[in-house]
Amino acid sequence: ASDAKFFVGGNWKANGTVSMVDQLCKDLTAGAKQFDPKNVDVVVAPTAVHLQQVKGALGAPYEVSAQDVWIKGPGAYTGEVPAEILKDMGITWTLTGHSERRAYCGETNEVVGQKTARALEADLNVIPCIGETLDQRNSGQLFEVLTAQVQALVDNIQDWSRIVVAYEPVWAIGTGVVATPEQAQEVHAFLRKLFTEKLGPQTASTLRIIYGGSVSDSNCKDLATQPDIDGFLVGGASLKSGAFLTIVGSH
Ligand code: G3P
Repeated sequence: ASDAKFFVGGNWKANGTVSMVDQLCKDLTAGAKQFDPKNVDVVVAPTAVHLQQVKGALGAPYEVSAQDVWIKGPGAYTGEVPAEILKDMGITWTLTGHSERRAYCGETNEVVGQKTARALEADLNVIPCIGETLDQRNSGQLFEVLTAQVQALVDNIQDWSRIVVAYEPVWAIGTGVVATPEQAQEVHAFLRKLFTEKLGPQTASTLRIIYGGSVSDSNCKDLATQPDIDGFLVGGASLKSGAFLTIVGSH
């Protein structure tokens, strides 16, 4: 990890029942003494309909994040959740551009950039997600794909102090095939260099770049020691409080 404060997000994706969420929040509350919030920021992202329940059940040091945000403000947009409504509910973060939204909802780099800008405008912190598919990696397009994803963020974001970038290679998400520490470090170092070129060394050195994709309680330590990995975005393992807290404490 770099000098930036370690950051661990739990993305619960489209999972949960009222009773499961209740239990998970109780277990996380009980486990909060296992880590020092001075050393790590911990954010969990339940489904939109569980946000209020989680916000009520989980206090500091935890923060609560949405998994997505609407591209426009409040108004006649049936089914969508704009940033202002999240903010009003005490939600302080949102993900944008998760690969599942890119794949299943057709979100383009431009849409992800605009959603990120919209959320910042409404005073949320944002975790934009980027990453390549296996085909893109195998055909030598890794750095080109990432550069285009980053450029759309750079074009839309002014205040980088409220951004945590998640690198999630699509082939590692939910597959159990975690990137090796060397593979992850190679990309994180590339991204740090790219952000240095685009934003300057000051912003790039404090920008947190976190890794996601099959992070578990057994592989987190080796990843966390890599110089450019500043934390994790955890899917499956974030639904188990024990594993998640181990990952939170891996730094
Ligand atoms: O956003 C986190 C995620 O996509 C990684 O999922 O289940 O591979 O940890 P998972």
